Amino acid sequence: MEPTFSTRQRGRAHLAEDRKRGAGDLVPSLALCPLPGVHIDALETHDAPMKPRLVELLCCPACGAGLTCHSFEDRPDPKGLALGGEAYGTEVVCGLLACQTCDLAFPIIEEVPRVIRNAFEEYANWFSDQAARISAIEGLGAVSQKIGSVDSSRFDKRSNESFSLQWEKYQYGDKTWFKSDLDQRRDEFLDAMQLTAEQLDGKLVLDAGCGNGRLTASVTRYGAEVVGMDLSRSVVRAQEMREEHAGENAHYLHFVQGNVMEPPFPPNTFDHEHTSGVLHHTPSTERSLDSFLTLVKPGGRVYVQLYRTREPWIGIPNAIIRAFTSRLPLRLLFGICYTVAPLHRLLVLMVAKLRGESSPIEETTRREQAVSLFDNYSPRYQYRYTPSEMQALFENRDLKNVRDVTFDNEARHMVAFAGDK
Ligand SMILES: C[S@@+](CC[C@H](N)C(=O)[O-])C[C@H]1O[C@@H](n2cnc3c(N)ncnc32)[C@H](O)[C@@H]1O
Repeated sequence: MEPTFSTRQRGRAHLAEDRKRGAGDLVPSLALCPLPGVHIDALETHDAPMKPRLVELLCCPACGAGLTCHSFEDRPDPKGLALGGEAYGTEVVCGLLACQTCDLAFPIIEEVPRVIRNAFEEYANWFSDQAARISAIEGLGAVSQKIGSVDSSRFDKRSNESFSLQWEKYQYGDKTWFKSDLDQRRDEFLDAMQLTAEQLDGKLVLDAGCGNGRLTASVTRYGAEVVGMDLSRSVVRAQEMREEHAGENAHYLHFVQGNVMEPPFPPNTFDHEHTSGVLHHTPSTERSLDSFLTLVKPGGRVYVQLYRTREPWIGIPNAIIRAFTSRLPLRLLFGICYTVAPLHRLLVLMVAKLRGESSPIEETTRREQAVSLFDNYSPRYQYRYTPSEMQALFENRDLKNVRDVTFDNEARHMVAFAGDK
């Protein structure tokens, strides 16, 4: 469904009402503070960079306090202003988000806020390049104090690097998991969430672990405002491509680098939440599910898709091979995946033939196959669940209307449930 102009206007009004009514009380208010002398009007044209609207939604992942946005480079966006009001009327290209309480600071680089605890470590060069601008911010302590302590039970560096490389290898236009994002996956999104396009219109939706962000972007075409969050640097290219994938709805699409185990959003922020193929890659599926669930408003719909426990004849060899491959240097492993992809394809087709089935791998390119193989063999964590285990995960957390919504076309590998908070 292509929403009309007036529908989107109504949608934003709903969001504003929702914010006034409930979660909005918890959402920190925006403080956009251009530094004197560094407001830059004549920048190169970028497609819809980060909006102040996203800052309204964000909070410090460490202490939950609000963030103040110090803009180093921004420009007005008259179209955003007309469509959604002031929160959409400025585009922040580069800046710093400073916690109002705990002394952490998070960079906005290439239009994307990086609200992860280890931002200072991951973006050390950026902090050093921007040192003069940062030290000009009144009341902000020394940059060296902005180092967040990284807890390995919540943050895995290999996952971050592995998925960053995986999405760097992926080319926009490739299929994702052998499906097209802009039609098949977008249509399936409604079945997954068990919502109609009309029910999504005007809602605020989180896609946690959004990967390449293509599905995330396509969902804005239902009239929803969508936030894509990912631990990896995939969000940078997702942001670059968002106009192309979301069209005129790109104003209602936001990307943030964030960790679902330490989310940069206050509780009860989103109307609905979606996460596919993500939580089993974190150090603890249960704990990441808990923090994911805090973010949705009471009554909101959640969809979670996890890896399914495989038959032993596949599951055991897979675990043995992974024990070795998930320790290999990332680029070496990607090279191996690319090299063996044709052989793997042949094996998959043979097994499919023996089963009397067809396989989507038939229609895929070598790069798409290599990305998919790497996705299986590289990540450190890969927990698997049976449908009854997943049902228990949902029911033990008091979710209502819990149902198995696994698609037939992925039931061999995945298990997916929807429920209401
Ligand atoms: C298999 S991909 C799935 C991507 C996307 N949801 C999809 O369905 O195409 C898993 C994604 O989860 C992200 N991820 C892993 N751990 C995460 C975490 N702790 N917080 C946020 N994202 C995470 C990875 O960076 C990766 O992009």
